[in-house]
Amino acid sequence: MSDIAPISYDDGALRILDQTLLPHEMRFIETRDWRDVATAIRELSVRGAPLIGIAAAYGLALAARQGEFDEAMHDLAETRPTAVNLKWAIRKVEVATINASRSSRDVAAAAEEEARRLHEKQITADEAMGALGAQLLPENASVLTHCNTGTLATGGIGTALGVIKTAHRQGKIRNVYVDETRPLLQGARLTAWELSQEGIDYDIIVDSAAAGVIASRRVDAVLVGADRIAANGDTANKVGTYGLALAAKAHNVPFYVVAPMSTWDMDTSMGSAITLEERDPDEVLSFDIASAAPEDASAINPAFDVTPCALISGWVTDRGFLTPRKPETEVSIDQAVAR
Ligand code: MRU
Repeated sequence: MSDIAPISYDDGALRILDQTLLPHEMRFIETRDWRDVATAIRELSVRGAPLIGIAAAYGLALAARQGEFDEAMHDLAETRPTAVNLKWAIRKVEVATINASRSSRDVAAAAEEEARRLHEKQITADEAMGALGAQLLPENASVLTHCNTGTLATGGIGTALGVIKTAHRQGKIRNVYVDETRPLLQGARLTAWELSQEGIDYDIIVDSAAAGVIASRRVDAVLVGADRIAANGDTANKVGTYGLALAAKAHNVPFYVVAPMSTWDMDTSMGSAITLEERDPDEVLSFDIASAAPEDASAINPAFDVTPCALISGWVTDRGFLTPRKPETEVSIDQAVAR
C-alpha cells in the first residue's frame, strides 16, 4: 500500500496534499476553514471523484464546528458538477447530522464521524475492486489507462489504478501505457508518479497516440475510472475516455470501468443527462506559464466526456462485476445499489 496520504483529518484540522504541484513539489494545504476545502476542490488541489466526496465530507465537519453547515453544504455541492460522489457524500453527512440532532447528539461530532467513515469505506471499496478487477487480467498483462485513478484520486489504492497495483502485486503486469491526459496531465504527472512509487513499469503516451498503440501493440485491457455512471451504464469520465472506448471496441480490446457504487447515479437515466464540466480555456492554451497557442487563440475545454454503455465490457464495482453482455452472471445494478 502506498504511503501517500492525499487527505488527513485530525481534531478539526484538515491536511490536503496540493496535487497541482505534483510531481515536483509536495506541499500541503492545512486548514480549519471549509472555504479552503471548496477552493481546493475547485482548483483541483484535491481531485478524483471519490476523493472530492471525502474532501467535501471533511469540509462539512469543519463547517459544523464553524457553525456554517448549511452555507457550506450549498457551496461545496457547487464546486464541481460532474462527479456524483460529491453530492452523494454531502447527502450522507447531512443525514448523519440530522439523525444526530434528532437524538440530541453533537452535530459536529456526527459530521466528523461520518466523514471518517466514508474515507475508510472508500479504502475498503478500493481493495475489493482491486481484487475483483485483477482477476479479469491475463498473466503478463499490458494495460492502458487514462487520467489518475489511484491513491491521489480516492485515498485508498485507487479504482482502475488499484486494479493495476493489485495485479502487479500478483506478478501479472508487464507494462502500463499511461495517457498523459491533456490539458492538466493527471496521467503524466500523477499516475506516472504513483506507478514509479510502486515500481510498476510504464510508458507515458500522448493522448493522441492511444488509438495507434491499441491498434499496433499488445494491449490486453483498457482500465478507466468514472465520475458518474448513469442508470443505464453510460459513463462520464475524464475527457478522452470515449475515444479510448471506441478504439478498444474497434480492436476487440476489453474496456473496463472501475468505480465504486457511490459513482452510480440512479437518478440519471442516461449519459446525455449528465452535466459535463467545462473548464477555463486557458488550461488548453498554455502549459504552466508558457503559452502554447497564438495570443488571440480560442479554445473549448470540456473536462469530461460520456462513453455509451454499449462500448463498455464491464464495470468493476465494490459490490461485484456488472456486465451488460452476460445476464446470467450479472448482479443487477438495483440489487448492487440496495446492498
Ligand atoms: O478532473 P479530475 O482530475 O478530478 O478527473 C478525475 C477523473 O476523471 C477520474 O478518472 C475519475 O474521477 C475517477 S477517480 C477514481
